[in-house]
Amino acid sequence: MGSEPIATIARIEMLRREAEVALDAAKGDAALTAWKGEWLGKGGRITSLLRSVGALDAADRPAFGAAVNAASRTLEAAYEAAASSRQADAMASALAAEAIDVTLPGTPPPRGRLHPSTIILRRMLDIFAEMGFQVFLSREVELDDVNFTLLNHPPHHPARDMQDTFYIAGTNEQVLLRTHTSPGQIRAMGAYAPDPIRIVLPGMVYRNEKITPRSEIQFTQVEGLAVGPHITMANLRGTIDGFVHRYYGPNRRTRFRTSYFPFTEPSAEVDVSCGLCDGAGCRLCKDAGWLEILGCGMVHPNVLANGGYDPAVVSGFAFGLGPMRAQMMAHGIDDIRHYWGNDVRFLEQFG
Ligand code: DAH
Repeated sequence: MGSEPIATIARIEMLRREAEVALDAAKGDAALTAWKGEWLGKGGRITSLLRSVGALDAADRPAFGAAVNAASRTLEAAYEAAASSRQADAMASALAAEAIDVTLPGTPPPRGRLHPSTIILRRMLDIFAEMGFQVFLSREVELDDVNFTLLNHPPHHPARDMQDTFYIAGTNEQVLLRTHTSPGQIRAMGAYAPDPIRIVLPGMVYRNEKITPRSEIQFTQVEGLAVGPHITMANLRGTIDGFVHRYYGPNRRTRFRTSYFPFTEPSAEVDVSCGLCDGAGCRLCKDAGWLEILGCGMVHPNVLANGGYDPAVVSGFAFGLGPMRAQMMAHGIDDIRHYWGNDVRFLEQFG
């Protein structure tokens, strides 16, 4: 019976080779799992060889069992190798499929930008800062007294009609949205009197008007105010010219025309020579050769007194200009409604 185990061991070898060939052919996770079940599972073709051990001579059993176990370990190792190389292949192909070329230009996230009205306001404030003016911020919701009365508009005086007003409901027309930045003059003087001041006061103002291409119910202003001993109209002219030359350019000329504002005396309106035709007359300046840019004057003694100064000791000048109007002229913006229209095609052209 000595030949039987040899033949049987040869059979184990044959089965092992068959299993190896099958393993080579097993591609993919499912095939590998099926292979494992078929050969090495509980009732697998290698494992179940052990069941036939009882048919052998007792002397042959150890050699047979060892051979089955050895085949089983060899196939187990081959399976592990195949499975892990299968995993490595899957990882490699996933990496290849998801590869990111870090040298390609990225897609930048959309960035916000400043509103054109903010851009122009800041530019003007920068110029005035360079000229020694401090920024003073004042409230947008004002008292009627401060917006009008203390600025020398007597009650019921027709000058109030110069600016149609939004009143805050339920306050008996005592509280309103400021119609100009001039009430900030009273606030600033109240904060600093009797010391000299030189300030600019930027911000939003509101008027109860019909909205048209040329008029809005809200827009920005920049107010200027200087108060101190010996301040004259010459200082006002120097300041305005200094601003115009920095903002519009050194070759632009200014022209003062007498005007009327309740809070200044004397009062003037200032024109700048047209940048397109240099005074000859054109479409931009409507053939005038000049563009109106601001109102100004010497602070009225009543206003100085209302601000807490002694008009016998100090004098002052003030001016008020419209940054959005200046920007519209510079960029040929023909409709003020673009400013609050929230159309990014307009807004994106600035800044
Ligand atoms: N407050 C005036 C307005 O809104 C502008 C103005 C004119 C301001 C003359 C001033 C000034 O300070 O002196 O129309």
